[in-house]
Amino acid sequence: MKVWALSDPHLSFSQDKPMHIFGEHWREHWKKIAQCWKNRVAPEDVVLVTGDISWAWRLKDAMADLDWLHQLPGRHKLMVRGNHDLWWPKSEQEMAGLPSSLLLLTGEAVRVDGEVFCGTGGWLDPQDPYFEPLDDSPFRRELALLERALERAAGMESGNGIHVLIHFPPYTSRGKPTAFDALIHQHPVKTVTFGHFHLEEEWKVTPQGGIAGVHYTLASADYIGFAPVQLPI
Ligand SMILES: [Fe+2]
Ligand SMILES: [Fe+2]
Repeated sequence: MKVWALSDPHLSFSQDKPMHIFGEHWREHWKKIAQCWKNRVAPEDVVLVTGDISWAWRLKDAMADLDWLHQLPGRHKLMVRGNHDLWWPKSEQEMAGLPSSLLLLTGEAVRVDGEVFCGTGGWLDPQDPYFEPLDDSPFRRELALLERALERAAGMESGNGIHVLIHFPPYTSRGKPTAFDALIHQHPVKTVTFGHFHLEEEWKVTPQGGIAGVHYTLASADYIGFAPVQLPI
């Protein structure tokens, strides 16, 4: 089994949302994603899709996007919520109606073969220049959810390390480690995968690769050229 990451696909098959207003590279970006995904990902692999999945506001409008991801190769697509994922299921019943290969993590952990994955959406850190007073409550809630996810994962893993999925990078947009990063370093974490950043000035200051035993991957679709990247596992 290989593990791949592709974040922030920003899909909108049920509504007209032209992504190329954000740059010519986004024009028909789903075609690039599908082609690269099919070339790289095998049926037994796992793909981490770390948020900003669909532009839809309601779950029923997101289904076209979720079905599209479901039909792409990969045994499981593990997902966390991005700040744009307003469609996110609000009940067990809604969760049960999702396509079978999609697994959404909000403070949970899951084991696939010998690998343990856990995650939540995360939030802006108080040190971030974009942080406002209204961000305080979701920041605290998400920090508690990450702690819960890591504790559950620590109880499931057997010395192999944990893979963390989080939409908001564990660094501020100026590249400073956040409270989420501090929590990550208190647990036996092997990899952290995230997205959210779409600006070159953010990409430039985001630490990546191996840092103090943790491997960081910024997987925003535009940053990785719309091709899933393989995690070191
Ligand atoms: Fe995004
Ligand atoms: Fe985002």
